[in-house]
Parts: sequence; C-alpha cells; structure tokens
Amino acid sequence: MTDTLRQDVLIIGGGLAGLRAAVTAHDAGADVAVLSKVYPIRSHSGAAQGGVNAALGNHPEGRDDSWQRHAFDTIKGSDYLADQPRAEILARDAPERVLEMEHWGTYFSRFPDGRIAQRPFGGAGFPRTCYAADRTGHQMLHTLYQQCLKREVRFYNEWLLTRVAVHEGRAEGAVALHVPSGEVRGFRADAVLVAGGGHGRIYAKSTNSYVNVGSATAAVFRAGVPLEDMEFVQFHPTTLYGTNILITEGVRGEGGFLLNAEGDRFMARYAPDAMELAPRDIVARAIQTEIREGRGFADGYVALDVRHLGEPKIKERLPGIRQIAVDFAGVDPVEKPIPVQPAQHYSMGGLACDENGGTGVAGLFVVGECSCISVHGANRLGGNSLLETLVFGRRAGERSAQAASSGRAVGVEARLVQSVEEQEQEIEALKERSSGERQIALRREMQRTMNEHVGIFRDEAGLRTAVDRLAELQDRYETVVLDHRGRGFNYDLVDVLELGGMLELAQVTALGALERSECRGSHWRIDHPGRDDQRWLRHTIVSYGEAGRPAARYKDVIITDYSPQEREY
Ligand code: FUM
Repeated sequence: MTDTLRQDVLIIGGGLAGLRAAVTAHDAGADVAVLSKVYPIRSHSGAAQGGVNAALGNHPEGRDDSWQRHAFDTIKGSDYLADQPRAEILARDAPERVLEMEHWGTYFSRFPDGRIAQRPFGGAGFPRTCYAADRTGHQMLHTLYQQCLKREVRFYNEWLLTRVAVHEGRAEGAVALHVPSGEVRGFRADAVLVAGGGHGRIYAKSTNSYVNVGSATAAVFRAGVPLEDMEFVQFHPTTLYGTNILITEGVRGEGGFLLNAEGDRFMARYAPDAMELAPRDIVARAIQTEIREGRGFADGYVALDVRHLGEPKIKERLPGIRQIAVDFAGVDPVEKPIPVQPAQHYSMGGLACDENGGTGVAGLFVVGECSCISVHGANRLGGNSLLETLVFGRRAGERSAQAASSGRAVGVEARLVQSVEEQEQEIEALKERSSGERQIALRREMQRTMNEHVGIFRDEAGLRTAVDRLAELQDRYETVVLDHRGRGFNYDLVDVLELGGMLELAQVTALGALERSECRGSHWRIDHPGRDDQRWLRHTIVSYGEAGRPAARYKDVIITDYSPQEREY
C-alpha cells in the first residue's frame, strides 16, 4: 500500500489554464502541485497559433478600441448566449493579463514603435489580437511553465486522472494512473482545480491533439458537476485538407482570402462587410455550403490564398503556417493557395461553474476549455480562448487557494486508499477479460458518428441516429477487451479508460443538439431555421438522471446591457 501524496491545491492539467492558476494559487500562499497527462509544455495549448485578444489600442486602426467594445463583440459573436457579466470580466481584465504575460517573458511580435503588435481577427470591431508570429500558444505556455518552475510548483507528469475524490459534497483529492509505471495512486488536496482542456477527439476530423479526449472533464462529470451547453461545438473554418492541422485565422487576419473552385471569393455572398473575418461559425458554414453545393475542389476543400501578401510578410508573420503547408500538404503558400476545410476545433460547452471556476462541489474548481464559464456562448471569437485561460485561470487559482485554507476534511487518507483499491480492481478486471471488442473499433465508430450527424449542419433524424448509436456504443464498451496487459506505458489501457469518458461527452453533446430546436451560433439545425429567443435563450445543463442516463434541464442566460439583436457582419 502506497501513501497518498499531499498538497493544498491539486491542479489537474498542465496547459495554459492550469499553469496560470498554479502561479496565482502559489502566490496566494498555497502549496501547489500540477498533475498532467503529458509533459506540460506538450499540452495542446502550445498548438494555439493566432493570438490572444486585449483592447490595448496599439493598432493604428484600433485606437478607439475599449474593453466595452471587446465585451460587445464577444457577446454578439456568442449569438447572445454568453452570460454578459462574465464576458465583461473577460474583456475588462484582458489588457492587464496580457501585459503581465509580456512582463513575464512572452515574446510578442511588435509594431515598429515597440508596442505589442495586434492583428484583426474574426468578429472583432477593431484589430485587437496580440500575437507572437503564428506561435502564440507555444510562447505563452513556455512563459507560464517557467513562472511555475521559478516558484518551485511541483509537477506530477504523465499521470492520467481517473477519479476526482468527493465526499459529502466536498472535494478531497484525486486518483490517477502513472502511465510510465502503471502505478495507481491517491493525491490528497484541500482544493482540486481541473483544467483538463478540450475533448475534440470525439470527432473524426479535429484540429485537436490526440491527448484531447476530455478524460478529466468526464471524471468531474461523474463526480457530480453538470455539463453546460455541450451542443455548441466550434468548427474552425480553415484546417489543412487531409490532416486537419490548424491553419490560423491569423492568415485571414493578415489579408488571406478564400476562393472556391470557380475562383469566386465567395465570402462576399455570406458576410459582405466582414468577408473572411466574419465569426467562425459563419465562415465555416459558408465553406461547407460551397463544398456541399459542388463549388469546392474535387475532394472537398476550398483555397486559402496568401500569395498577394508576398514572401517577406508570409515568412515574418506566418512562418509556422508556411512550414505546416509545405510539410503536410506539399504546398508552399508563397506560390500556391493552401487547401483548407472546416474541422472540429473547440468546445464552447463544458463543466458548469461560476465566474471563479467554482462548481457546486465545495473545493472543486474548473477552468479553461473543459469548463463552461459561459463567456463564449454559442460561438467563440478567435483569440478569446487563450485570454480565458489567463483571466479565469488567475481567478480560479486565487479561489482555490482560499478554499484550501478554509479547513481540512478528516478521514481522507482512508477514503483515498479505498478509492485507489477500487481503481486497481477495475483495471485488473479489464486485464482479466479474455474476449470482447477492441476499443479502436468503437472509437472510430463514435468519431464517424459525431462527424456525420453532429457536425456543422444538423437535423433531427441525424441527431437521433447519433444518440441511439452512441448509447449502443456505450453498451458495447462494457465488453471491451485489452490487447496489451502489461503495466508500464500501457496505452491500450489508457485508450480504454479514456474511451469511456469520450462516449459520455459525445452522448451529452448529441443529446443537447437534438433537444435544441433552433439555430444559434455554431449549432445549425437545418430543420429549425432561425434563432428562437422566445424558447431558447437558455443554457442547456446536463447531469446524470435517476435512471443513470444523462438528462437535460435549462437555465436562463444572464442578460445585462446588451439586448439580443440579429447578427449581421
Ligand atoms: O485560428 C487560430 O489561430 C485559433 C485561435 C483560437 O482558437 O482562438
């Protein structure tokens, strides 16, 4: 029997949200540890390219920008589903959080006068996206990791969270599997903050890294925290055809434009003012419509043209994109347009929480993409996701340190040891099963189902098929069998454990989409045209019902200063 490991605040997830929270929780006096499935600087935050929004007013055309304009753009972009006071926090705190990152060492691109450079991004009234060429997430992740190292924050790397320990409505730690050794261990904490990232890999086509399967989200859901607005899935308009690697919105921000196979700059028909810089839901639908109606290139893509920017600008502002296009599509954007198509990119929905990441469970906090702090509503603006990690990471870090100092539960050690034993038994039972289906077959079927029926365009028949098929896959999951039974680096086991959570998140997404009979932001029901504020200006909240199946209820959106209008771009 191994002792549990003890800290005041246990942060699950070593991406930007988790590391930003760790810095503040540490500075508030807590003993902090970060548990991460991968080495932290390999977190998916490092793949963020285009930038982080803040109304700094540095751009010559952005002098009149203000946090209020940023808040408005965010709320309008959300198709009025964002909770408005939260969007205001996001926009108001943005300049301070971004400048703080600069002072900590983030190597932002600059204007000739030395100020942080800003580029236009979709749905924004002013150019307010600060960037480090096209590697902004990478820069920021390294900055925060260094800040954590400087503070001697403890890291448990390559541990997969399997359970969040909750007793009588209070979080008291977690159970995790050490992937290299196969050891299962308990982690004791007075506050647990989950920043596990997104779950885009429930789809077949996604910009997300293979680690983005939502295992931490599913563990918190099972611990009793509801999921909110999961039907709102962002499809990034421009991902590299063939691999779906992200091709940043920064390409369009720098002046790149979209062409169909007829050479038509088609965005003029969908968003005559904003053109390629309309919000993502609109651009993704436009591209998909061109493809569906036969105006795309043969295999289902359109062209993103930057040749007119010229080689020096492409090399300076978009070096990573150029390299990706050359390496993965054999296309040099200096000479030829980039073949692009939409793919899953981000989940606006996630674990329900308040403006400090607090959940209904005492001492349990969530932040970043795994959470639904409700600033993005039905459609997130590009550049607001990195910002969310900074603004709300800091707030959740502060609150978790406060929660940790407010008292310690008794009898935790014995309960955690029991939880570890239960987890070990579950793994043993899996290893002993001698026949059944392989996880990969179920995973592929889930991913195909999500792409086919819970994609950019949705209807009742497809969504019903998805809900039924996912339920069937959940039943089949109960008989899944391992190929590999070893202890160390058993990725077959990791895949099986993760798949259970992926199926739960997929099911909640499809269920929310089936119930919501309107079009709003990224959720486009071809059988229910138009937004229906009368019935649907509400958040979807899903928890496990009495029968052990997820069930939805609804909660009003918080509207303060901005009354819903038709979105025009
Ligand atoms: O297009 C991009 O660079 C992605 C940015 C984002 O998702 O915020």
